Amino acid sequence: MKVDMEKMVSLCKRRGFIFQSSEIYGGLSSCWDYGPLGVELKRNVKEAWWRDMVRERDDMVGLDASILMHPKTWVASGHVAGFADPMVDCKQCRQRWRADDTKNGKCPDCGGELTEPRMFNLMFKTFFGPVEEETATVYLRPETAQGIFLNFANVMDTARKKLPFGIAQIGKAFRNEITPGNFTFRTREFEMMEIEFFVKPGTDEEWLNYWLEERFNWYINLGIKKDNLRLRQHAKDELAHYARACYDIEYLFPMGWSELEGVAHRGDFDLAQHAQYSGRDLSYYDPDSGERFLPYVIEPSAGVDRSALAFLIDAYDEEPDKDEIRVLLRLHPDLAPVKVAVLPLSRNEALIPMAKDVYADLRKCFMTQYDDAQSIGRRYRRQDEIGTPLAVTIDFQSLEDKQVTIRDRDSMKQIRVPVAELTRTLEAKLAGEPLDVLPPGGSYWLGFED
Ligand code: GAP
Repeated sequence: MKVDMEKMVSLCKRRGFIFQSSEIYGGLSSCWDYGPLGVELKRNVKEAWWRDMVRERDDMVGLDASILMHPKTWVASGHVAGFADPMVDCKQCRQRWRADDTKNGKCPDCGGELTEPRMFNLMFKTFFGPVEEETATVYLRPETAQGIFLNFANVMDTARKKLPFGIAQIGKAFRNEITPGNFTFRTREFEMMEIEFFVKPGTDEEWLNYWLEERFNWYINLGIKKDNLRLRQHAKDELAHYARACYDIEYLFPMGWSELEGVAHRGDFDLAQHAQYSGRDLSYYDPDSGERFLPYVIEPSAGVDRSALAFLIDAYDEEPDKDEIRVLLRLHPDLAPVKVAVLPLSRNEALIPMAKDVYADLRKCFMTQYDDAQSIGRRYRRQDEIGTPLAVTIDFQSLEDKQVTIRDRDSMKQIRVPVAELTRTLEAKLAGEPLDVLPPGGSYWLGFED
């Protein structure tokens, strides 16, 4: 099911995933705030990445470097001189464009004549300390990667790692984009999940291929449909100033195939530059061969916001539902903002104490939401629309037999399980066990009509 961007923006606002920044002042273009559900989704994306890329690997360590860095960093990295996009203005309607987004020298909007391209540096500048002068200029980092290169020697000295190994970091980055847009796809403030993976020269091709496969499969394992993902190799004239080779993992966004993540071969560009500009030796001593050399770097670099958007778009589905349409987000359980909804069948006073007890127990283990407003069918639909994989319903029979029902978002099927088995059963279902595998004392259940 393809969803257009307007529908996604509207669902995100209606359900509390993403709001326009500074809305009460008329909004700040291309800046977005994550609401109660959006912040959970984003945390889950980052948590899944950290779990898979750092915690469960022996060859990766984490880092959290500061956003503001010594200004020489960006001279050495090439960003002061080279991190710029060619910009053109329409002489007729005055709109500003990235030159690569225009064709035949005409304005894409009104067809007017364009100015000659001028280079525009994308780094945000600010001042360090109280005096606003040139020597106090610092930059908001446009990528988290440089914090990793600057700490390469510190990590080598303390983490007791041998090549090949990587340093991973999640954090904010800022780019004064000429044409931000497409919701959270391109913004001026965003979050990145970056790995700099250091390898011995000669093994770099092998590791580039390894990371391409690893990162491609990461999205598929978290539910993105394979048909909506592809790899695209950068042409020579497209490569960033630091890259020897680069591939984009592209996703079929509503506006077409667009970059989701870049996997670049940075060679020894960054370590060599920082060694030269800082005067520090950033080479690696290989205890096996006794050689000293600058490692090569393979860099899988993903956007948190762009990934979250792709996961939302890919999960969106609509199904006929009697005279209506059931809207649901088939989000992977690891990413779903709410894992379990606790829904007493009605607001009848007799049901509330048991429902509240179940809720109190479950929220210790899962992100859980309690809801007793409106009909049970409407509450199921609301949870479907925010992607909650499982709903637990407490009914009058539950008071007698101490059993509750579990309803599955995708199939809408239900099972009935003893409360004593509930946490363990939910855990297993969230980890992928089919709904019809029953715990001791469980049974199939025709269910309350949705
Ligand atoms: N250190 C490598 C690097 O910065 P990049 O391809 O420019 O590479 C990596 O950025 C990823 O960061 C992109 O694939 C995208 O997911 C995300 N990203 C880049 N610019 C962005 C923007 N303006 N808004 C949202 N995400 C962005």
